[in-house]
Order: sequence, then C-alpha cells, then structure tokens
Amino acid sequence: MKFHIQTWGCQMNDHDGEKLSGLLERDGFVPVDSPEEAELVLLNTCSIREKAVHKVFSELGRLREEKERRPLLIGVTGCLAQQEQDALFRRAPHIDFVLGTMALKQLPRLVEEARAGRKKVMDTGEYPDNHLFPPEVTRRRGTAKALVTIIEGCNHACTYCIVPTTRGAERSRPFEDVLEEVRGLVAGGYREVELLGQNVNSYQGGCTFAELLERVSEVDGLEWIRFTTSHPMNFTRELARVLATNPKIAPFLHLPVQSGSNTVLRRMLREYTVEQYLERLGYLGEGRFKLALSTDFIVGFPGESDEDFEATLRLLDAVKYDGSFSFIYSPRPGTAALRLKDDIPQAVKSARLTELQRRQGELTLASNRREVGRTLQARIESSAPMEEGHWLARTASWKNIHITAGAGRLLPFGELVEVTITEAGPHFLRAEVA
Ligand code: 5AD
Ligand code: SF4
Repeated sequence: MKFHIQTWGCQMNDHDGEKLSGLLERDGFVPVDSPEEAELVLLNTCSIREKAVHKVFSELGRLREEKERRPLLIGVTGCLAQQEQDALFRRAPHIDFVLGTMALKQLPRLVEEARAGRKKVMDTGEYPDNHLFPPEVTRRRGTAKALVTIIEGCNHACTYCIVPTTRGAERSRPFEDVLEEVRGLVAGGYREVELLGQNVNSYQGGCTFAELLERVSEVDGLEWIRFTTSHPMNFTRELARVLATNPKIAPFLHLPVQSGSNTVLRRMLREYTVEQYLERLGYLGEGRFKLALSTDFIVGFPGESDEDFEATLRLLDAVKYDGSFSFIYSPRPGTAALRLKDDIPQAVKSARLTELQRRQGELTLASNRREVGRTLQARIESSAPMEEGHWLARTASWKNIHITAGAGRLLPFGELVEVTITEAGPHFLRAEVA
C-alpha cells in the first residue's frame, strides 16, 4: 500500500512524521511524494493558530473529492487530532481514523482496523512511553541535520497556547537513550543534530539540559548541535555557560519573548517580566555577541494598548534580534485567554504586525551585512545544485547561504565547506567557496 504523509507545523511535528513514516515502512507500506499517488494519506496537523487549522480543513475538502473518485484511506494525526478528537469525524465524515500525538505507536493498529472497514477508528490516549520511540524505526527525511526528541509536552500554562493540551505534560527521554540515538546517527553519516522539545531546558532525563548538551557534544564525529525550543524561565546560568563555551553547540539561541510589555506578559502568564528576560540574556555575558538570537512575538493579544506595543518595539530595538517570528494573536479553543476580551480591531493588529516585521527586517539585514567579508563554515543543504553552480547551505548560526561554485563543481551534501560571504540580502547571504 502506498502512503503519503503531509505535515504542517513545528519540527516536533516534522519529526513525528518521520516516526510515523518509519512505522508504516516497517510494515511494508511504500512512501510516495504526493497524495494523488497514495492509497493512504495521513494529515499530520498543527493547531497553534487558526490559520494552521484552516489549511488542514481545506486539504480535507480536497481529499473528499479525491475519495469520491477512488478508494482512499484518510487518517488525521498531530495537534488538531489531539485537540478535536472525535469531533473531527463530525466535521469531516470521510476521515477513516484519528491518531493522537501521544499514541504514535498505535498507528499500525489503527490503519489495520480502518483497512478492515471499521468506521471512526480513533486513539487519542496518553501513552506514557510515547516519547520512548525506537530510533531504528524512524525514517528521516533527506535533510542534513537529524531531529532527535529529548522531551515532549509542556508544563507551562501560557494563556494563549494550545500546546499543553495537544502535547500533554512534560516527559523526558533518559539521557542514555538520547546518546545512543545520536551515536547511531553519526555512525549513519549525520554530522548535525537538533534536540527537540516543546521546552528543552526543563529536560529531566537523568541530568540537566546543559549536562545533556555537554554529553551529546562528546559524541565523536558530531559537528554541530542545535536545540529548540526554550522557555526563558528555564534558561539557566549553567546553560548560558555551556552555550557560550562549547564549540560544538551551534551559536544560535531561539528564546521566545512574546511581548515587551509587562502588563501583557502578566496576562499571558509568561512567568517573567521584561527585566527578568533581559537578565537571562545577560547570563550569556560577552558570549551573547557570538550568538545569533531569535525570538517569537504575538501582537494584538487581548488588551494590548499602543503603549504595550511600543514597549515591544523598544525591546526589539534594544535586543536587536537577528531574526524573529511574529504572529497575530489567534484565540484557541479551551485556552484561558478566551476569557479575556479580544478587543483590538483587526486593522490595528495587522498594522502592528507589519510594523514589527518591517523593523525586524531592518535588523536582520543589518545582521546579515555584518557577515559580508567573513570566511566561515557552512553546511551544504542541497543534494543537487539549485541551478548550475549554485548551492544551498546554512551557517552554524542558521543563516541561509547561496553558494556560487564553479560550474561542474560538486559540493557534497551534508558536509561543511569553507565559504567567504560576498553579499547580504534580507533573507539570505551570497557566498563563494573560500
Ligand atoms: N496565537 C498566536 N500565536 C501563537 N503562538 C502560540 N500560540 C499562539 C496563539 N494562540 C506563537 C508563539 C509561540 C509560537 C510557536 O507560536 O509566539 O512562541
Ligand atoms: Fe503546531 Fe505547537 Fe503542535 Fe507544533 S506543538 S504542531 S507548533 S500546535
């Protein structure tokens, strides 16, 4: 049976897709590149904002027509599946099965039941060993870095956020398991890993997150370690020290702040003030200037005044993030913020988002321009040239690079090459092989 998995959302979802793919391939299912070729389509969904949910329902609409023309099994997994559970069958009766985010290993059983003609097959249970997925089963997509789960779930309670509902409480993988998986990845040719969790720095798998980073960095042959994502309140001095001193840890930190206003932060239940957030960044000391910093912002949170938004812009200017992701607040079912009056006109929300993104664009361009003239290492991320003599790569600080190499020159996928940056744009750097 041919299958196709369509994934939306974060790296955790990407990686779940790789685990689910492995489960199906183990049973002899064959992956195909498009839903049109597939007999089983699995929608691996995100529900962080309403837009993400819209995308899923629009794809479900398309698949309904497809299913009217030919036999097709449709499964829904990911955060929307966990959130909506059997309500999904009511909204889209052509769904054959629903698999929750904490029941990944149940996939083969659900597929079998659905194939046998059972209707509305569902498992959204919270299996306590979901995070202990057998590494040998995972089928990674062809990327140069390998994603590795270290912790699932989130124990914070930000009032806007659906994730604690869709991903459950925190569960850490024992560090020995993580190390074993990383060793296996390096033996298989990977040189870069990204440690994943909704909140990696509250890791508790037998050591602290900072210790885990040190241990992973001792794996021979591994070149760069990344991690995502972090809550500022779990960002410790110890972690800052490791980040600033361990050469294998990629010089990049994503530390979501959400807002520069203490009033808004309080209403978001972020557990810190702007001053405390800046204090945490201060833990990095001089090391901070060697790191690329990025963050997330939400604009238009209920009650966000012009002054609150100004405070966010001031924070942006003060920290000078190298990059940021910003979003308009999206009310999510079952979250505490629903009780707050969503009182900001849509036009104001949009204008704030545009302004924030414009200013970030300037900062990012400035950050990119600082790289011009530098010679540094970059990892080749394209397995073939984009066009004759042009290759995609990433710096350790996660900037996109377009490399111009001589025509006919082959740059090996996944390897580090030394490049000199020649030009900076808002979204990528141009470089030549040094
Ligand atoms: N509305 C808008 N943005 C949200 N995020 C999380 N929940 C919401 C929401 N309800 C953003 C936060 C988070 C990022 C992953 O998504 O900025 O850090
Ligand atoms: Fe989307 Fe959050 Fe779920 Fe990731 S954890 S898929 S970002 S809702």
